[in-house]
Amino acid sequence: MIKVDNLHRHFGAFRAVDGASLEIATGSITGLVGPNGAGKTTLFNVIAGALEPTSGTVTMDGEDITGLPPHELFHKGLLRTFQIAHEFHSMTCRENLMMVPGGQSGETLWNTWVGRKRIAEEERALRAKADEVLEFLTIEHLADHPAGAISGGQKKLLELGRTMMVDAKIVFLDEVGAGVNRTLLNTIADTIVRLNKERDYTFCVIEHDMDFIGRICDPVIVMAEGKKLAEGTLDEIKANDAVIEAYLGTGLKNKDQVAQA
Ligand SMILES: Nc1ncnc2c1ncn2[C@@H]1O[C@H](COP(=O)(O)OP(=O)(O)O)[C@@H](O)[C@H]1O
Ligand SMILES: [Mg+2]
Repeated sequence: MIKVDNLHRHFGAFRAVDGASLEIATGSITGLVGPNGAGKTTLFNVIAGALEPTSGTVTMDGEDITGLPPHELFHKGLLRTFQIAHEFHSMTCRENLMMVPGGQSGETLWNTWVGRKRIAEEERALRAKADEVLEFLTIEHLADHPAGAISGGQKKLLELGRTMMVDAKIVFLDEVGAGVNRTLLNTIADTIVRLNKERDYTFCVIEHDMDFIGRICDPVIVMAEGKKLAEGTLDEIKANDAVIEAYLGTGLKNKDQVAQA
């Protein structure tokens, strides 16, 4: 689905992404791992249109999408999750979902020339969709809670829920598990797998927790110093000398520590 070819993103003389080439297959849950500073987040930002590449190309289903702005990628079904912005904290979880521009209901909602009846219908449909998403995420009991008052892990689920308000094809997740307790991390993993199986979402997931990666991701791509270093199942990359070497540079002493990293 996604093909990244010889991608570069430099910051001055520093090459955060330095000739990365990789592919994300349709229907996969692809893991992206690597030591801190490897360029993973920068790569995501370039693919998702938040940063211009210095050079190189990104294609989606054969179409060149290099450098397209986020809203155009959004309409093509390429999404990355963002933290719920502070100004949305006082809105309820349901309202947060209803705010997502859907290309269908959301945008026409505010057109003053649309009849009142039509607006009411649109809003009802949007509300029903939001409730369906909350139920899928098993957080329907939080529908009327302010988004600022739910736990960190529940916020992650809500962020994932926003991708369900549109017809996403591929979703990029950057460290969804950070600071989330084990139980919610399992719920997030289950949700990703269900979205993949039941709704045909393709995922690319950056995560430090190797249990999480091992449980849901195949293949796993290892990035180091701005480029792809290895790819395979988690077991394969854990046994790869170049991968161990890359993590050794971060102070880890052996395979077991790499496995825990
Ligand atoms: N806006 C920026 N300006 C300068 N350097 C940056 C910027 N963004 C990231 N970097 C640098 O690029 C490198 C890769 O960062 P990042 O993509 O966040 O790595 P990762 O997500 O793999 O930890 C880091 O050394 C970081 O300091
Ligand atoms: Mg990062």
